[in-house]
Amino acid sequence: MSRSVLRVCLLLLVALGRPGAASESDQDQGEEERTHPPRKGLGHTHWSYEDRNRWSEDYQDCRGTMQSPININMASTIFSPHLRAIQLSGYSLPANERLKLRNNGHTVFLELPQSLAITGGYAQQYRAVQLHLHWGATTGPGSEHTINGHRFAAEIHVVHYNTKYDSFKEAMVQPDGLAVLAAFLEMGPRDNPYYQELLDHMQQIQRDGEEVWVPGFNIASLLPVNLKYYYRYNGSLTTPPCYQAVRWTVFNQTMMISRDQMLKLITSLRNDDGKPLQSNYRQIQSLHGRRVLASFQPTFFAPKQLPAGTASSAAPEEHSSSSFQAGDVLAVLFGVLFAITALAFLLYIHKQRNQNARLDSPIKSKVIYTAATTENTA
Ligand SMILES: *[C@@H]1O[C@H](CO)[C@@H](O)[C@H](O)[C@H]1NC(C)=O
Ligand SMILES: *[C@@H]1O[C@H](CO)[C@@H](O)[C@H](O)[C@H]1NC(C)=O
Ligand SMILES: [Zn+2]
Repeated sequence: MSRSVLRVCLLLLVALGRPGAASESDQDQGEEERTHPPRKGLGHTHWSYEDRNRWSEDYQDCRGTMQSPININMASTIFSPHLRAIQLSGYSLPANERLKLRNNGHTVFLELPQSLAITGGYAQQYRAVQLHLHWGATTGPGSEHTINGHRFAAEIHVVHYNTKYDSFKEAMVQPDGLAVLAAFLEMGPRDNPYYQELLDHMQQIQRDGEEVWVPGFNIASLLPVNLKYYYRYNGSLTTPPCYQAVRWTVFNQTMMISRDQMLKLITSLRNDDGKPLQSNYRQIQSLHGRRVLASFQPTFFAPKQLPAGTASSAAPEEHSSSSFQAGDVLAVLFGVLFAITALAFLLYIHKQRNQNARLDSPIKSKVIYTAATTENTA
């Protein structure tokens, strides 16, 4: 009987551990290099993600020293209490306001009216231009930025330009011209109704250059609820012409979409060669000594930075987003399972002792023997 108890516990451990383990190795496969995204307003583009290592031949900024994306090593970020929460205004659009959703051969992007703006969290005000996504393939994830070397399933970029310039075009060549808000997408159990607003129309723009008008909705719901915790660094467009004009904000809280939604994102569009538009992310660029600031003090995995007893930085959770990684969930799960196993084992020892004790009494031994037999055949 002891064996059967232990066996059940082990089976539980294996069964419950497997989904997490599998998805982590999926992610690791994706770490071998891929590609990256586009920008509107550049007219015709002939670059591709396949030749992303040669972008700098045609676009000299692509070999600059302030390029994006980067890997963010949480332990080397610098906590900056001056980084205030990002504030958005005008992001909630009525359904009768139509927005253009377009496949430009490099990504899907949604044109945004200039009434949307960032009004807090930056030294200046920025107006929205467009948002777009970067994703992977069925073989691996496709976020552009990585955190501690971890690549997320996908990434959303909301592109803005500094209101001190007259247009996006003018701003994109200035060092303080653009602000991009970035958030990671992960796979969760539920459909995300806000992302569905876009995904519903992917079938209509399968080919390069196709576009469709979609009803307005609250664009802010494509971003995390918690806009207080983020990383900030100076970088570039992640597609040619790679202008080094972007003040990046990469949110700590991630967004969740379902597996089916992710599959739809990954498999719906085709590029200008008529091939599946996948893994549209650029490889990680060197920091070249740049600083990466954080608006919060990371708690779980960067104890070095933490004076004991500082305010908790765990982000508030919400149904469609989460700041906890799969690793945290697994850690808790394994903790619980370990506790259960230990408890079962103790119970068994206890029972065994009683049994031994009772075996001393000849009258009861039969009953116990019968019970044990039954369990062994179960
Ligand atoms: C970005 O560049 C500006 C101008 O050089 C500088 O003031 C700012 O501190 C830089 N930001 C970061 C996060 O290094
Ligand atoms: C967000 O912060 C938490 C706590 O510091 C950390 O465990 C997690 O990895 C971070 N996630 C991202 C995407 O930065
Ligand atoms: Zn992008």
